[in-house]
Amino acid sequence: MKKIGILTSGGDCSGMNAAIRAATRTALGHGVEVIGFRKGYAGLLKPDFLEMGTKEVAGILHRGGTFLQSARSEEFRTPLGREKAVRHLEEMGIGGLVIIGGDGSLNGALALHRMGVPVIGIPASIDNDIPFTDMALGVDTALNNILYAIDCIKDTASSHDRAFVIEVMGRNSGYLAATSAIASGAEYAIVPEVECDLADLCEQLRHRWEEGRSNAIIVLAEGAGKAQNIADTIKDVIGFETRVTVLGHYQRGGAPSVFDRLLGSRLGHAAVELLLAGQKGKMVGLCCNAIVPTLLETVVVSERRQQDDLHSLSLILGI
Ligand code: F6P
Repeated sequence: MKKIGILTSGGDCSGMNAAIRAATRTALGHGVEVIGFRKGYAGLLKPDFLEMGTKEVAGILHRGGTFLQSARSEEFRTPLGREKAVRHLEEMGIGGLVIIGGDGSLNGALALHRMGVPVIGIPASIDNDIPFTDMALGVDTALNNILYAIDCIKDTASSHDRAFVIEVMGRNSGYLAATSAIASGAEYAIVPEVECDLADLCEQLRHRWEEGRSNAIIVLAEGAGKAQNIADTIKDVIGFETRVTVLGHYQRGGAPSVFDRLLGSRLGHAAVELLLAGQKGKMVGLCCNAIVPTLLETVVVSERRQQDDLHSLSLILGI
């Protein structure tokens, strides 16, 4: 393999740059050329790319987002779009591809693999909904962002005797909500994986209120309900003054944490080593602190459901 390509696809996250840098420098160290495609699969279709040397990936490790930029490409979802992508790779003499992204991007990676392109995927999504990796890239940084925000909101909640419903991202995954609730000492977490008993929530808050604890933090996963509805219910049932904060895209940016810099570096390096060793159609993940490859076929048909335990813990500790 003389030349490889790298792209970041789907929602960006902190740590992607670390993975790009590590993959690039590992390949260059083996005398392999590196092409970076801009804006994910869209860059492959245009094609829109840059040749990556050591210098191109200097000074990006500490930056959030992805310097290659990212996108969700409709055209790439079509058979014609995928054929065009394969054709461009062949014309450019690219023998393998490192694809950094979430579940949609890994599905795209599998499609390319089935069309004969040697591909290694790197899990990157703050949702942490990708199986066969304990943590995806970007999750730790997002959690640190969320914790900073919740700590700030707790200060004002306690000054005013208010309950706050804080909405965090995660799409259909409650990982960010459950873990940030545990780590921030929130009173309650609401996640999509577990049906929320609003009566139970109000009962708990009433109990706290009667004990003289007159502020509360409820962390809501975006896929689990409407923050304003929950806040209104709390106000109607117990008269608690409530406010809503939607953290939004703030969660996805910012300088990557040490954990995400290390994870991105390890995954980026491993992805290229595997490609150059002739392995393909796999995703590299973090399993019990080792970097472990798993077939993309297995990854995309599996489901990750570890939120139930974390959610229970958040409720036990939130009393
Ligand atoms: O998948 C990552 C994620 O940040 C989700 O948590 C969120 O629902 C979605 O992307 C937001 O997508 P966009 O950036 O396209 O608005």
